Amino acid sequence: MFIEKFRVESPNVRYGEEEIESVYSYETTELVHEVRDGAYQWIVKPKSVHYHFKTSTRVPKLGVMLVGWGGNNGSTLTAGVIANREGISWATKDKVQQANYYGSLTQASAIRVGSFNAEEIYAPFKSLLPMVNPDEIVFGGWDISRMNLADAMARAKVLDIDLQKQLRPYMEPMVPLPGIYDPDFIAANQGSRADNILGGTKKEQVERIIRDIREFREREEVEKVVVLWTANTERYSNVAVGLNDTRENLMAALERGEQEISPSTLYGIACVLEGVPFINGSPQNTFVPGLIEMAIARNSLIGGDDFKSGQTKMKSVLVDFLVGAGIKPTSIVSYNHLGNNDGMNLSAPQTFRSKEISKSNVVDDMVSSNGILYEPGEHPDHVVVIKYVPYLGDSKRAMDEYTSEIFMGGRSTIVLHNTCEDSLLAAPIILDLVLLAELTTRIQIKAAGESKFHSFHPVASLLSYLSKAPLVPPGTPVVNALSKQRAMVENILRACVGLAPENNMILEYKG
Ligand code: NAI
Repeated sequence: MFIEKFRVESPNVRYGEEEIESVYSYETTELVHEVRDGAYQWIVKPKSVHYHFKTSTRVPKLGVMLVGWGGNNGSTLTAGVIANREGISWATKDKVQQANYYGSLTQASAIRVGSFNAEEIYAPFKSLLPMVNPDEIVFGGWDISRMNLADAMARAKVLDIDLQKQLRPYMEPMVPLPGIYDPDFIAANQGSRADNILGGTKKEQVERIIRDIREFREREEVEKVVVLWTANTERYSNVAVGLNDTRENLMAALERGEQEISPSTLYGIACVLEGVPFINGSPQNTFVPGLIEMAIARNSLIGGDDFKSGQTKMKSVLVDFLVGAGIKPTSIVSYNHLGNNDGMNLSAPQTFRSKEISKSNVVDDMVSSNGILYEPGEHPDHVVVIKYVPYLGDSKRAMDEYTSEIFMGGRSTIVLHNTCEDSLLAAPIILDLVLLAELTTRIQIKAAGESKFHSFHPVASLLSYLSKAPLVPPGTPVVNALSKQRAMVENILRACVGLAPENNMILEYKG
């Protein structure tokens, strides 16, 4: 059964006027490796840690500024939100289609709240805590192409034509602000698109981005802004001592106008200086160590990297299943054919390399979790190929072959073929990223023994479910397995309303 909303009643939860407060007992373990009975032994000690959560229920009017607003993802997301807001339906060759938010964790997925009369009861994910209604987001942003959003939507060739016609009047007045363009960081084939460019020094460009954010906030009368990079994949920037390795060095390099500071890092610096959450949806190393240090020092939320939309999402499900089932994946080969502008940009070796790196580490945590299957340091062969095939447009083909060793030397080969509009996968993920980032900034946490509430660590690992290469606080584990990532975000939101993690034991029916 599905219910729309619920309220938690517990001595540990208080729904106040302005906030929800919960006292939460976090059941975890402490590991000790020490000499006992003359030999090293692992001792596992269960322990409970008490946390207080405090979530502001004041949902702000949210502005979202996209870098690369006029691209396939940016125009598709903007179109999708307007279509939902306006309740637009359109004729396809199959039926009359209604706007929806399918593919969004927060808007279209459910959580289990319990059992009632021997039936499992589910509720919308978004009913856990007050969240921004995506229909009410105000969009803005930058693009190095001056095209208005209606023409950009037509250029993207993603949405049905009947829908495009209805959306055109809403999107024609939307024109991206000039973007920071540096041909050294993206493929040369993007040059012909770049007709909307910010001049000035790098420092002046950062100042201009800050001004743009402030003007957008005032003009649109939004209370909070989140900025998200969905612009072209850049090449990796070099990380070097004295350049971008520390916060001070990065700021000094900005003063000097160092060539090696990428446009995406410049937008990141602007957001951190302005205290605005900044999320990177592309694979490059926007978050150089100096920028991470700066975000931590200023407690300004950063998250990324690279939307986990299709092939990698499947990978982080399938390899988790195989390794979890005691089966040993030995070769994983992924081919992509795509014909959109992202594919054209990725046809240059330097930008492809960024994608290759981002896609490559996705099975690491699963492989290293099973020492029965893998020797220390052993890894499956993992190859990623991306080819630009213009005719396919946004309809991406992802073909994967997983070969595994099974019982008694047998071999199992699984082949997947996925055809899908890339931007229709990415747009709801962008939505989740900005909604969860905004929500995260309203949650305060306090562990037993701490005197004051504080926000979560500014490196938002809570967004891992949505990221191919999750950015996590320095020195903390990266989790790629999709079910674990989903459990993390769901369970943390449950904790904020005093609900235990979903343990799937269903002990009620086992006695
Ligand atoms: P796109 O090429 O259609 O859009 C990118 C836009 O960014 C273009 O309009 C371009 O003019 C603009 N741009 C480039 N550099 C800029 C800058 N410095 N400042 C402002 N604007 C700039 O690409 P698409 O398909 O929208 O993808 C965007 C990004 O998302 C790519 O990096 C892609 O790799 C990444 N991504 C996409 C996924 C998907 O499923 N669609 C999945 C994972 C990542």
